[in-house]
Amino acid sequence: MSRLLHLDEVDSTNTYLKTHRAELSHATVVYADKQTAGRGRYDRTWVSQAGGLYFSVLLKPPYNPFLPNLTQLMAVSICKALEQFSLTPTIKWPNDVQINGQKISGILSEAVFDKTVFQAVILGVGINVNQTDLEHVGQPATSLKLAGVQTTRETVLENVLHFFWQDYPALCEKGFETIFAAYTKRFAALGKEITVKDGDKTIFGRVEGISPRGTLLLQTAQGPKEIYIGDVL
Ligand code: BTN
Repeated sequence: MSRLLHLDEVDSTNTYLKTHRAELSHATVVYADKQTAGRGRYDRTWVSQAGGLYFSVLLKPPYNPFLPNLTQLMAVSICKALEQFSLTPTIKWPNDVQINGQKISGILSEAVFDKTVFQAVILGVGINVNQTDLEHVGQPATSLKLAGVQTTRETVLENVLHFFWQDYPALCEKGFETIFAAYTKRFAALGKEITVKDGDKTIFGRVEGISPRGTLLLQTAQGPKEIYIGDVL
């Protein structure tokens, strides 16, 4: 389904697709050996040395009303791909993938508009494959190699894309309900007390579950709260 482009080095695969979106078709995937200005969520830097898998998927119109759920579909697809190596990945809401509580993958989605006209969604994925030094990550992190898996970035990419395109049409048509079971099965925080941060706002509460829309349901001191966006600390 994808048209695959490979680059030795690029600033960011997300930025590349944003810049070249007009001449590229829907479902183009670009991956790079290295990124010199890899970007993470909340304007963080995504350090991208050799050995990691860095790719972005270009999704062109029509506009998909289930946009926030695309990253959740990608997280499920990454889990399914890692399960092929007999690992047991879990999802940290909304879309980080972890192995034994250590981050192995992150996703950055960006919607591009020209004035108010929707142009594209770019889904950028970083997966730690063959790196062994992850000190810079600033949180517990691991890679496939550190988890004892010997593989290539291309094999991982192919597996992830296989699962992603398999479930993409249903998600576009019916939304999160099509991946609800697959997502919640891998969601590890049920019943845990967590802190969610979005900008300056911090909310503390106990995780009650995931809603049919993919939002996070928390029981807080002020009552039940539905969280649409944020970073679980
Ligand atoms: C996060 O966990 O903060 C999201 C990290 C997303 C990193 C990927 S690597 C490929 C793509 N290009 C980027 O600049 N960022 C994403």
